Amino acid sequence: MRVLLTGATGYIGRRLKEKLLEDENIQIRLFVRNKRKIRDKHQDRIEIYEGDTFHIESLHRALEGIEVAYYLIHSMGAKDDFKKLDRLSAENFLGACLKAKVKRIIYLGGLGEKQTASKHLLSRIETGEILSSKPDLIQTIWFRAGIIIGSGSASFEIIRNLVQKLPFMITPRWVHTKTQPIGVSDVLDYLSQAKNLETKENLVVDIGSKPMSFKEMLIRAAKVMGLKRRIIAVSLLTPRLSSYWLILMTPVPYRLAKALVEGLKSETIIQNENAKKYFHSIYPISYEKAISTAIAEIEKNQVLSRWCDSSAKEECDIKGQETIEAAVLSLKISNDFGQTSPEKVFASVLSIGGLEGWYKCNWLWKIIGSIDKLIGGPGLQCSRRDLYDFRIGDSLDFWKVADLIKGKRLLLVGQMKLPGKAWLEFSIEGTTLVLSASFLPKGLWGRLYWYSTKLLHTFLFSDISKGIVQRAKSLA
Ligand SMILES: NC(=O)c1ccc[n+]([C@@H]2O[C@H](COP(=O)([O-])OP(=O)(O)OC[C@H]3O[C@@H](n4cnc5c(N)ncnc54)[C@H](OP(=O)(O)O)[C@@H]3O)[C@@H](O)[C@H]2O)c1
Repeated sequence: MRVLLTGATGYIGRRLKEKLLEDENIQIRLFVRNKRKIRDKHQDRIEIYEGDTFHIESLHRALEGIEVAYYLIHSMGAKDDFKKLDRLSAENFLGACLKAKVKRIIYLGGLGEKQTASKHLLSRIETGEILSSKPDLIQTIWFRAGIIIGSGSASFEIIRNLVQKLPFMITPRWVHTKTQPIGVSDVLDYLSQAKNLETKENLVVDIGSKPMSFKEMLIRAAKVMGLKRRIIAVSLLTPRLSSYWLILMTPVPYRLAKALVEGLKSETIIQNENAKKYFHSIYPISYEKAISTAIAEIEKNQVLSRWCDSSAKEECDIKGQETIEAAVLSLKISNDFGQTSPEKVFASVLSIGGLEGWYKCNWLWKIIGSIDKLIGGPGLQCSRRDLYDFRIGDSLDFWKVADLIKGKRLLLVGQMKLPGKAWLEFSIEGTTLVLSASFLPKGLWGRLYWYSTKLLHTFLFSDISKGIVQRAKSLA
């Protein structure tokens, strides 16, 4: 069976790829906007096609000879009207699938009803309706999931951060709304089994574990973490205030916090029994089990994907970002590491940031991160996916990995709110670690920012460079 996986750099897509690889009888084709984000050991079984659902030609090429196509794309992070983009993307995909005579589309959308749906959920429903609009020509299996619990999922990160940081919570009334969370491993089981389903007609399959309120989710998660939490729901907190609270206390940005809060205002409960009817062998794990599995994956440093490592915008977030030559201002710090092996120095480069912090001036980075968060940037809360390694596209605090050449070069591109674009590059040149900070200022403010902070940056980056070499020596 030839399968096309779209959204293969996304939260669900990256995990589904691993799940699909368990089946030796399928050939997998990944459809991605930037192939540098994919680092794959299974070259014999995986083909990578670069494209974009807004470029029809690339879709035609990718869908040639495909029998089953997974649609795991959305444009929620887009600045422009994401609903319009989602509609166009789904229409293009359906059209190309029809032309390529694909037999089945498998789509994962959100749980909930049109009448009470948030703007985000409405767009997910519209996507499902478009994809399943030609039942006589192509079959669509449309899964609908509510809150997905897995290491690195946005909902799990919100729950984990709230529970860990706040012993006592005053929450809005919507915490009483019922929903049906589901563990990410179950979602992957449903998606993977759907490719082999015998049935020929269109299906909508609602998936989830036992119904519970968001308040129960917080209390139960606290119990799994061995914590006791008190929650008092009041009607004073508006959705807007709740969203601001979430962005301060958790890593998610405003648009995601708002979508989650909007989504929790109305019940998201399973409306059909198709999961039980067509997928007999899947018994969704309990909410507690999903939480403990997610925590264990973080503790074992086995997080496969995170919500913040893809972009879901009009364009891939790091495409073209490696063009550091565009910068007009730069500063360079060189540090000779003498006898220490370059491999160890590079390993030390690869462990910067996240929980390890940014060396001696970590407190200063924390202040900068908090200011960034307050003015609408990502701040430092995104941390990092893996303690020792990076993939191109990974978030690292308020940076993203734009380029990585093992043993030689790590290039980070700034995501923080700045009057310009910033890069931080680490390279090994002989026995020297070279750290370069580059900046492309936006107008006068950009230049003022660069010159007024140059001394501070020189101090901060020298500290990082020294810290990296010192850590490499201790590794030695
Ligand atoms: N994650 C959840 O908690 C959750 C819950 C319920 C339902 N769902 C549904 O599951 C599906 C997948 O969600 P997700 O969380 O995995 O999304 P995600 O992490 O935001 O990933 C979105 C993916 O779509 C790709 N993409 C965006 N626009 C594209 C375009 N025009 N052409 C080609 N690729 C494009 C992105 O590529 P880049 O890497 O280039 O940006 C990325 O791989 C969505 O339909 C979502 O509604 C998710």
